[in-house]
Amino acid sequence: MKILSIETSCDETAVSLVEASGDNRSFSFSVLGNALFSQIEMHREYGGVFPTVAKREHAKKFPLLLKETLSQGDEYVIKPQEYSEETWEEIRKITEKEGGLFDGLKEVLSDMEKPNIDIIAVTAGPGLEPALWVGISCAKALGALWGIPVMPVNHMEGHITSVFMESEDVRKAVFPAVALLISGGHTELVEVLDWGKYNILGQTRDDAVGEAFDKVARMLGLPYPGGPEVSKLAEMARKENLPQKCKLPRPMIHSDDFDFSFSGLKTAVLYYIRDNPLQNEDEVKDICREFEDTVVDVLLSKTKKAVDHTGAQTLIIAGGVIANKRLREKFKKLEDEFPGLIVKTPSQKLSTDNALMIASSAYLKILENSELLKGGMEIKANGNLRLS
Ligand code: KG4
Ligand code: ZN
Repeated sequence: MKILSIETSCDETAVSLVEASGDNRSFSFSVLGNALFSQIEMHREYGGVFPTVAKREHAKKFPLLLKETLSQGDEYVIKPQEYSEETWEEIRKITEKEGGLFDGLKEVLSDMEKPNIDIIAVTAGPGLEPALWVGISCAKALGALWGIPVMPVNHMEGHITSVFMESEDVRKAVFPAVALLISGGHTELVEVLDWGKYNILGQTRDDAVGEAFDKVARMLGLPYPGGPEVSKLAEMARKENLPQKCKLPRPMIHSDDFDFSFSGLKTAVLYYIRDNPLQNEDEVKDICREFEDTVVDVLLSKTKKAVDHTGAQTLIIAGGVIANKRLREKFKKLEDEFPGLIVKTPSQKLSTDNALMIASSAYLKILENSELLKGGMEIKANGNLRLS
């Protein structure tokens, strides 16, 4: 089955074409095309993702990324198309709220033969709604023009299933599993009873962990996104064996639940800087190391508790923050601590937002419910979409 997937929930515009096969216990994905444009440079000056800029850039880049993806997959055949005025009018209506999207799409699609695709999958949430709508409008426009069904995908579910996209052995999911989802907008511990069957064990009561990295980075004068910067300096502090001056509290580490809280930690950093004005780069590195250690300690502790509580045999850690090297190393070691536990993390490429993860989730959803291949669903952006 060929799936064209679209992701525009935040600041990455991504399109992929995946050939998926197999059943829900043994499946395989081959990537036929994959293109991604990251808007990070554009948002840096705002210190975070600016929704109207995100929306504009998604609309501008999508047609080009579509062409690039289909070209890699040999599905882009240049052939002038004869679409009626009514068809273009329908596409114009679907895309009218998305800035220049219609013109960009028309230019690419007028010369492109209908590709051989079974379904179009698009992220419907959670994320920034103006950004999500661009992807949804693109999916609907392509679906209408080519007569291909369109289905919605939950972005967080995409992060979960992304860990099963790479090599043969990683696809063998053993349930129950626990998923720790850590991104710029989410921090959740989820029990995965089977594909599509979730039970949210706990979540952050305030800031998401990626958000905390970004905010602390900003306090330290480091650029957005803060995670990679903080992590780089933390690693330098360890390599250089710098003396440890900064000590931070481990919020909620002993609380009798699976919830998190990172806003107090951020404030603790703020007070530390106020009371100990930064004199040199080594002090920044010291704070980064302590902050990273704190986050790792808290995430590890709650996750271990969740594994114990559920008897999970697979631990999935996904979302942009798992790009963090220290976290990956520490979590991998849980395989020694919990005999039989398989720890799955996506590769660096699949850690941050991408369209491949959306295709993987779409395929597993279709295996659960083949009705999805008929299309006809109403698809709306939902910034707060939950796993259900
Ligand atoms: O999943 P993602 O790409 O986008 C969202 O859906 O939020 O996650 C982005 C988040 C940002 O907050 C970023 O600072 C964080 O992931 N991040 C990291 C690292 N790389 C990205 N956090 C810590 N260490 C990293 N190496
Ligand atoms: Zn994400």
